Amino acid sequence: MKKIIRGQIFYFINDPTLYTNPDDFMRYYEDGGLVISDGYIVDIGTYEEMQSKYIQASYDDYSGMLIMPGFIDTHIHYPQTPIIGSYGKQLLDWLNEYTYPVEEMFSSPKYAKGASKDFIKELFKNGTTSCAAFSTEHKTSVNALFKVASDFNMRIITGKVLMNRNAPAALEDTVKEAYAESKELIETWHKKGRNLYAITPRFAITCSMSELKVAGLLHKEYPDTYIQTHLAENKDEIKQTMDLFPDCTDYLNVYEKAGIVTDSSIFAHGIYLSDSELDRIKCAGSFISHCPTSNLFLGSGLFNMQRVNNKRVTTTIATDVGAGTSFSMLQTLNEAYKIQQLNRYVMNTFESFYKITLGAARALKLENKIGSFSLGNEADFIVIDYVAQYIQKIRMEYLKSCDKWDVENMLFGLQIMGDSRNIKATYVMGRKIDLTD
Ligand code: GUN
Ligand code: ZN
Repeated sequence: MKKIIRGQIFYFINDPTLYTNPDDFMRYYEDGGLVISDGYIVDIGTYEEMQSKYIQASYDDYSGMLIMPGFIDTHIHYPQTPIIGSYGKQLLDWLNEYTYPVEEMFSSPKYAKGASKDFIKELFKNGTTSCAAFSTEHKTSVNALFKVASDFNMRIITGKVLMNRNAPAALEDTVKEAYAESKELIETWHKKGRNLYAITPRFAITCSMSELKVAGLLHKEYPDTYIQTHLAENKDEIKQTMDLFPDCTDYLNVYEKAGIVTDSSIFAHGIYLSDSELDRIKCAGSFISHCPTSNLFLGSGLFNMQRVNNKRVTTTIATDVGAGTSFSMLQTLNEAYKIQQLNRYVMNTFESFYKITLGAARALKLENKIGSFSLGNEADFIVIDYVAQYIQKIRMEYLKSCDKWDVENMLFGLQIMGDSRNIKATYVMGRKIDLTD
């Protein structure tokens, strides 16, 4: 049974930073029809065309609203949902004071299940349909998140956190357990339904070289898994890392020695990287998840997007909740824009939205599944009321009155002022999620 989703349809077909002509990087239908069937995108065009082509189809009418691919958050910690907005301290103290205590709760399957539900619903409320999430070191936490995501048929990436030192005993594993438990979870969940596994060494400080090497070894055994970790987020973190690994030439070299700098590696933050480190990340085909609200909240620093762009290193933009202060990718783009303003780089609106849709899908090698409305892709999309807030309506009317209202300005208004109030519906694999639940 086919369904036509009617509305103002927008999506990317290419990286907007590489083209000047919008036809080369985006598609926009003022009155469009997105045709879905059995959870997949089967056709797209003007509403008129689609209506006459699929006479039998049912339809959901969102005329006057924007239809976009669901947002993709490439770095977030699901167990940290309750500690969002925890006052004070920079990274290392914040981890000890707030993060590790809440993560200890995830040894309980019941707690992990409830937290997984809250987390996923919060993502959907904010228009995020896929994410790469950290769980905790407990298998229970990974099982709970994959199970709840499977119930929603959501495409999710997660994995057990590997830590064997410099953390509370309750959160540490051994090298043997790190290997055996990750392997068991990969066998259970990876590529089952829409689930994908990320081997997840937390960061260099909490992992011995043997622990990090387990991650490298597992990735060799399962080359289509991801690796996710943190890199060069905070100056004290970098100093401590270099003290712990005196034989390594720089932070990235720690990960290189462990074999975890690969074309499937997601490095969160990467604020303080040398030219050489950026070149080596580029060469390996890894990418950086820039987390603006987190970097501001923890006072970590101002990520230099232009410099990283010039090095042709792929970046995406992510929330990093609970150091990040919002589940909303729109609010996250807002802070990304402001950080780059301070760096004297005026980030283009299309570049911003690309990085949370097609750009993120490409970085994750999932562009033939999510991130755009290419035919055959999975039907994860959102409906955005871009004037849900009265002030957005005033802004639109003003811009219209001076002939400056266009797609770019519509998106920019969402980037700067948008949040969950603008998300009117979220569809996952073609199914509308009940956001009131
Ligand atoms: N580095 C290691 N662990 C974490 C974490 O949980 N959050 C952030 N922001 N940085 C980290
Ligand atoms: Zn993080």
